[in-house]
Amino acid sequence: MPPYRRCRTITKGGIVILVGSVRPVRNGGHRRNSTAQSIVLFTGGCAALFACAAYGAAPEPAKITGPNACAECHKQEVEAWRGTHHFNTFRQMPRDAEAKAIADRLGVKRIKVESLCLNCHFTVQEKNNQIEPIAGISCESCHGAAQDWIKVHSGYSGKTATTESKEEASRRWQLAEEKGMIRPSRLYRLAKNCFGCHVVPHEQLVNVGGHKPGSAFELVSWSQGEVRHNTWTSKGKDNIAAGAARRRMLYLVGLGVELETALRGVAKATVRRPYAFLMAQRAERARKQLAVAAKAVPSVPEIGKLVELGHAAGLKLNNQRSLISAADEVAKILEHITAIYDGSSMAGLDGLIPGPETYKGTARKAATVN
Ligand code: HEC
Ligand code: HEC
Ligand code: HEC
Ligand code: HEC
Repeated sequence: MPPYRRCRTITKGGIVILVGSVRPVRNGGHRRNSTAQSIVLFTGGCAALFACAAYGAAPEPAKITGPNACAECHKQEVEAWRGTHHFNTFRQMPRDAEAKAIADRLGVKRIKVESLCLNCHFTVQEKNNQIEPIAGISCESCHGAAQDWIKVHSGYSGKTATTESKEEASRRWQLAEEKGMIRPSRLYRLAKNCFGCHVVPHEQLVNVGGHKPGSAFELVSWSQGEVRHNTWTSKGKDNIAAGAARRRMLYLVGLGVELETALRGVAKATVRRPYAFLMAQRAERARKQLAVAAKAVPSVPEIGKLVELGHAAGLKLNNQRSLISAADEVAKILEHITAIYDGSSMAGLDGLIPGPETYKGTARKAATVN
């Protein structure tokens, strides 16, 4: 199926805006898919204003069930989410004077109706051929559009938690993933969503709109504060913080995905204006931090390869082909790292990982609802 089956473009004041879309989220950094993306991005007419969709950040609107569907079973996780900026942006952003100014500069009239802002600030559902933003950044923005997997993942293969066999359970999870679920254990795919929005790899939005060129994002500190909702496995008793090994993986994979996303961001730059420099700066900073990490854990040679790839492609305009190919290689190595390491052998990273005082917001205490 072509990745942009649901891609719909709207022309406004001479600018093409992409709404809806997109499948690449499920393939992560898969090569076939990346090629498809580069064709759309660099040889297609689509996309003077191309949102984070190209990085897999927007799940397919026709398959969105909405957070209320999750709330039926995941009350705790939903309560935690309701305390976040991700939840609040739905109401707040469109009222914000800065948002109006950005939209004006881009010729976007109605932020919640037909704009690229939808891709990163809202969860968009398609019903009866109508696209409607139904929430801020919600469950499916990170775990994948759920229509095809919601029943599968929770169904215990038609049995119960105690009668389902191990084989059945593993087949169930495999099926859920094939149908687009992004499980917490799939750290690379999960992280790709965060960075697809938080790097803001979007030239017009930054240069013309004056939007922030992304967040000072780091995966440990940004996932362990207000965003944390690890309340399921403890049956709501605790909102469990990532342990040492998980933190190392979050840190390392986060740096790698920052590098990958920034390389793709530079590849999209067409003019010598702030966007190009800021994306190049992000790539360079990630590469340097990875170089420090490579020294700290010499037993993980893959980190050194990431650093080499950061050097391999010149951070300059009109260099799409080599930047994209470096980003594709980074993606492959990150998939590999998450497949063979769990962080337990990476204690060398501990001194580099930001501590709790840097966490963004406060994690909700568990067990205040059940
Ligand atoms: C009918 C109840 C039900 C609904 C509705 C439901 N879930 Fe679940 N969910 C479960 C159960 C049960 C499990 C644990 C299954 C297990 O441990 O084998 C689970 C586990 C999960 C996990 C952890 C998976 C892992 O890798 O361990 C995530 C993430 C998740 N659900 C997300 C969602 C999202 C997002 C929605 C809404 C789109 C949703 N769930 C809707 C029952 C539900
Ligand atoms: C590529 C993803 C992306 C797109 C597209 C995008 N934003 Fe944002 N936006 C973000 C992120 C990430 C932040 C948070 C930045 C930070 O860390 O402070 C943000 C923050 C903002 C803020 C400041 C915080 C707030 O919500 O009040 C405004 C205003 C805003 N965006 C408006 C817009 C408008 C208007 C559009 C559409 C024209 C838009 N954004 C499109 C990702 C995006
Ligand atoms: C901003 C992205 C994001 C959003 C939004 C989000 N999740 Fe998650 N979710 C994650 C991450 C990241 C983890 C794993 C964190 C870790 O490993 O430390 C996770 C873990 C989980 C787990 C496993 C918890 C456990 O105890 O093991 C469940 C269940 C879950 N999410 C359900 C949901 C539901 C339901 C929603 C909507 C209310 C939601 N998530 C919204 C990113 C997100
Ligand atoms: C669909 C796009 C999108 C995805 C995916 C996403 N974010 Fe965000 N995030 C945003 C936007 C937009 C904001 C700003 C919201 C606002 O303030 O209006 C934001 C805000 C935040 C904040 C609050 C920052 C502050 O100013 O305090 C944290 C923390 C955060 N995100 C972490 C994460 C993590 C961790 C992930 C991945 C597990 C993630 N986000 C995935 C778009 C996204």
